[in-house]
Amino acid sequence: MARLLIKNAKALVGTFPEGVARVGGSSMAALPMIEDGWLLAENRRITALGPMSLFPGISDWSDLTVIDATGRYVLPGWCDPHTHTVFAAPREEEFVDRIRGLSYQEIAARGGGILNSAMKLRGMSEDDLFAQAKVRLEELMRLGTVAVEIKSGYGLTLESELKMLRVAGRLKAELPLQVKTTLLAAHALPPEFKEDRAAYLDLVCNEMIPAAAAEGLADFVDVFCETNYFTVAEMVRVLEAGAAHGLPGKVHVNQFTSIGAIQAAVQHQAVSVDHLEVMEESDLDALVGSNTIPTLLPSCSFFLRIPYAPARALMDRGLAVALASDHNPGSTPSGNLNLVLSLACIQARMRPEEAITALTLNAAAAMRVENELGSLTVGKRASLLITREIPSLAYLPYAFGADHLDTVFIDGKPVRSGKVLC
Ligand code: NIG
Ligand code: FE
Repeated sequence: MARLLIKNAKALVGTFPEGVARVGGSSMAALPMIEDGWLLAENRRITALGPMSLFPGISDWSDLTVIDATGRYVLPGWCDPHTHTVFAAPREEEFVDRIRGLSYQEIAARGGGILNSAMKLRGMSEDDLFAQAKVRLEELMRLGTVAVEIKSGYGLTLESELKMLRVAGRLKAELPLQVKTTLLAAHALPPEFKEDRAAYLDLVCNEMIPAAAAEGLADFVDVFCETNYFTVAEMVRVLEAGAAHGLPGKVHVNQFTSIGAIQAAVQHQAVSVDHLEVMEESDLDALVGSNTIPTLLPSCSFFLRIPYAPARALMDRGLAVALASDHNPGSTPSGNLNLVLSLACIQARMRPEEAITALTLNAAAAMRVENELGSLTVGKRASLLITREIPSLAYLPYAFGADHLDTVFIDGKPVRSGKVLC
């Protein structure tokens, strides 16, 4: 049995007690830590941890890797509860158009945007999509991502949406990180249905959702509920069809306009509402008392030069905020969660401890893997990060753009290895 002992850690970070599924509001800053700590993982899971002053010693040295983490922090691996990592091609030409002054919506109106990605994806084989996405995810694992939610949404036909989900399923089977999948067939209205929106909604609700559920290809459903995309009533239709097939919602809302989507998503028990760059007071209030997790995507705001979601106002209402990358070729061509951490602190004014909570425990909850990941807790998967020697935890988001990780473990196995000292 493979075993891993990490000792002399500057601190074990995120040592939440067993059973804590998420934390909200002011508690997000109270990130539990054990200074000068040790942690033991056996058979892929964390089996014991504590301060070095109470280290019981090791009697059985068989098959044991020992890491001396002096000067270095140990954290739970980053969870990414919102990505579109399966796609056919990047879209740098739109990036240049935006530098020239066009907006994301103007580019979409000219046939760019999601429809541009859909036309390219429909012609690409499952094998090619898989090979590309695998390379992306391998890089992201080295950057500390240990779990990822992957959406469809660039197929927009029954066949191509299921193709995307199958690719995500293969990534789940062949890569060590945890993968959850989401059917985002209502991402944009495909041109074939331009004159008949209702027929596309029928296809999504009566064929795509039942097929994805029957084949076990999706964990969630999603809708891009936005002016010029899908209405609140259409989102509700999709959420109801998803619920009827055991697929809860995780929805794109309030990216550019506030149209009442949050209230409807909360009413339909969505697991998360994502984006939230444009929020009215009533949108913030609608989340209070619900189980729906506000999931913020600061690297999308950075890339599109749009407002940042009001993280502090959400936390002031006691809510458990999560962070994610939104990795996709149009609005966020980066899945680097270390950058998300920095942007959340620098631009959305989250404190480092709050942002770390949002990228670990709350992010795990936003993709329903909180029983497995998101904290250094006995019984959870040994998917964890060891930093390089850094002066403080705040240094992680502070020194933005640099790589502060030394070692990344997924299920007790290194996917990136720093120095193993003894
Ligand atoms: O979350 N906003 C909708 N969907 C993606 C962007 C998709 C694209 O532009 O390809 C997002 O930002
Ligand atoms: Fe998205």
